[in-house]
Amino acid sequence: MTMNTIDASLSGQFRIGGITINRLGYGAMRITGPGIWGPPADRKAALATLRRLPELGVDFIDTADSYGPDVSEELIREALHPYDGLLIATKGGLTREGPDRWTPNGRPEYLIERAKGSLRKLGVDRIDLWQLHRIDPKVPRDEQFGAIRHLLDEEIIANAGLSEVSVAEIEAAGKVFPVATVQNRYNLIDRSSEAVLAHCTAHGIGFIPWFPLAAGELARPGAVVDRIAKARGATGGQVALAWLLQRSPVILPIPGTASTAHLEENVAAAGLSLAPEEVAALDAAV
Ligand SMILES: NC(=O)c1ccc[n+]([C@@H]2O[C@H](COP(=O)([O-])OP(=O)(O)OC[C@H]3O[C@@H](n4cnc5c(N)ncnc54)[C@H](OP(=O)(O)O)[C@@H]3O)[C@@H](O)[C@H]2O)c1
Repeated sequence: MTMNTIDASLSGQFRIGGITINRLGYGAMRITGPGIWGPPADRKAALATLRRLPELGVDFIDTADSYGPDVSEELIREALHPYDGLLIATKGGLTREGPDRWTPNGRPEYLIERAKGSLRKLGVDRIDLWQLHRIDPKVPRDEQFGAIRHLLDEEIIANAGLSEVSVAEIEAAGKVFPVATVQNRYNLIDRSSEAVLAHCTAHGIGFIPWFPLAAGELARPGAVVDRIAKARGATGGQVALAWLLQRSPVILPIPGTASTAHLEENVAAAGLSLAPEEVAALDAAV
């Protein structure tokens, strides 16, 4: 596969509210310390990776108040403010007690306070896309959806999404506010959100698959991802991303990295068009 043209716009476009983005985006969870806690090991490399995004046509960046916490949002601001032509999506609703520790807090006042905090940290008048990181099982879900309705009504956020939800939860939320996006784990080896993806495709809801690069055993030498990658002169990660992009027009993959070289490799997948028989082999692989 040729790496000459590295341009996220080759992945096609999607509209979130009134904003058009290139479908292949970037996840900013990996520009923090181990366990998504504290500053990154190489701050300069993290800032350089962020600054490379617009040069490669990546205009959709996903973060969360809990990444670091705060570290990811602050680095994004330092590298990219005032975000000319970029859509910065963030999330709230998870508290952090230390590395790899995440606890939902869906109390409405907490969600509203954290969204206002993200507004300040990102330095924007309005957050383009704010996502509820998890529905907190300890708080009635309609109270959490009501907080999102409030954030939209107060114009603190322009669009709202959900993360790790079922079709029933998307439908319940849709009675309170328009669900712009859903962010669930989905990749070549984890298709457990297939019904959610079908729902999003049918309703034009953006589906943001996290952990998009996972290929597991399928990337072993001689296995299907490895075979296609070798035949196309691509990497296994590029095959995983190309498959996601071809799986549904509402899929918005957000591979994450703190390395400019890995970023370039990932964005190059926007130019990899898999043949129907390759897509079929990957579809059938699990
Ligand atoms: N909603 C949620 O609950 C949730 C949960 C998890 C993640 N997310 C979001 O989804 C985004 C992506 O998820 P993810 O980070 O778990 O999965 P991912 O993007 O599939 O994988 C990231 C990992 O792959 C490595 N990597 C990236 N590009 C590579 C390349 N070209 N070659 C080799 N290794 C590469 C990264 O390390 P290097 O830094 O070394 O490249 C990192 O360890 C996150 O950034 C975050 O925005 C959301």
